[in-house]
Amino acid sequence: MPDQVSNEMLDLDELKTQRASVFHRQLGREPYDLDEAWDFARSNAERRGMAATLARAKATGNTVAIPRAGVAHWDAQLELMRTLSAAGAGVVPITVDSLTRSLKFEDAAKALAQSTPDRSVLNGYPLLAHGVERTRELISAVDRPVIVRANAIDLRLVAETAFASGATGFVSGPMYATLEYSKLGSLEVSIPNWQYIFRLMGEYAAHGVPIVEDAIGFAQSGTCSVPSLMHVGVVLDALIMAGQGVKHIVPYQMLQGHVAQDVAGCIAVGTLTDEYLAKLGFGDVRTYVASSDWNGAFPARQPDAYGLLAANVLACAIARTPVNYVKTIEEGIGVPTAAANAASIRFTRYLTHLISRQATSLLSPEVEFELELNLMEARAILDAVLDMGNGDPVRGSISALATGVLDIPFSPNVHVRGNVLPVRDADGAVRFLDHGALPLPAAALRIEAERLASRRARSGSGELSYQDVIDDLSFLEFEEPTLPEGGDPHS
Ligand code: 5AD
Repeated sequence: MPDQVSNEMLDLDELKTQRASVFHRQLGREPYDLDEAWDFARSNAERRGMAATLARAKATGNTVAIPRAGVAHWDAQLELMRTLSAAGAGVVPITVDSLTRSLKFEDAAKALAQSTPDRSVLNGYPLLAHGVERTRELISAVDRPVIVRANAIDLRLVAETAFASGATGFVSGPMYATLEYSKLGSLEVSIPNWQYIFRLMGEYAAHGVPIVEDAIGFAQSGTCSVPSLMHVGVVLDALIMAGQGVKHIVPYQMLQGHVAQDVAGCIAVGTLTDEYLAKLGFGDVRTYVASSDWNGAFPARQPDAYGLLAANVLACAIARTPVNYVKTIEEGIGVPTAAANAASIRFTRYLTHLISRQATSLLSPEVEFELELNLMEARAILDAVLDMGNGDPVRGSISALATGVLDIPFSPNVHVRGNVLPVRDADGAVRFLDHGALPLPAAALRIEAERLASRRARSGSGELSYQDVIDDLSFLEFEEPTLPEGGDPHS
């Protein structure tokens, strides 16, 4: 099986066989009836579809703010979605709990039974425990398109249930779910799981139900990375989606607090995704770039968290991305309350409104510089990966990961070499301290080194070390410098 994995489109009969087997093994029942599901999903999508909302935003230069949110109890989830919609969320989420994501459906059902509208025993909505009928009622009761959010290497039943219930957006792909989220999973196993989901999405699309899929790629979870490397994962996820017939893709740029580099990242990831989709014959796929607020350690202090969100919104508004995935002022504390989530959405909407009309005047030469560097580095890695697969992104990814031509920092996954180390330069932009075996052009390596020179000079030894990499993990926390006794803070 592993050496047969490729980017070929899954045969429809094979999808049917796999569906029967997955439903039988994981749920002990027959698969959902797709004709019935398409009828419901089509009329739902015509009223509130995520693809139409994003297409409108892209065409008009607007940004759709999308939160993450999920609680166990059905009534509380509805209340939460209505609150977020009222605060200005253009698409509302159902974030699925971790037990359901790890296929522990019975444990999730037990925790649901212990949850009340005021107390969620789960960190999200137990989609399988609620089931298709109840979730259809939920989705029908809100006035916005709904995205189901989860992340794992086997989300086949979560996807089946989400689409049959009327979700018109879904999240992730094999690169992110495997290499950033799983310890033992391999691409050889997770890619076919995800191809099942993408093929199913392709069938929904062919039956009048466009479903949008987030390509997160190598956006770091909890840490930072060099944008060009994050883009490589996004493009590979997107090519695997398109290979199975997905028509609406959201390339992600995870923002890291350096505005020029973040703006450039938003522009570069869109350019690269479109470029490689066209190159591999998927020119009919529509893309909508998403900026996603910082995914690492957040300040616990609310005013600081607002400051961090503001830096992220600034980048998103200058780049005019059609989507902004919004974190909350309570990210540093835990799962946010509905009120904190709503306040973060409203804040984001306000600042986007203020800044986006000034976008052109805020594009700096520094953005241009970062953009060119991003494109040069990402193309070099992508071309090498595709070459290794004789043009096939699936085969190429698997071979490249084994040899370190694909490599990412801080991965929890045992199949990743982990020889790449990112570090921030003196201004806070993220650079390669060690690029491992990534095939970067000499010109790019020279620029990366030059940009680290001033931080090197600042360090006592004149060199940067692993400790600097560790220190950078809390870069977005801010402590006032302690003053000497009697010191004047304003001198
Ligand atoms: N409610 C709100 N946000 C959530 N996230 C995950 N689960 C929930 C939830 N139930 C968000 C957090 C986390 C990111 C991956 O998704 O911000 O950092």
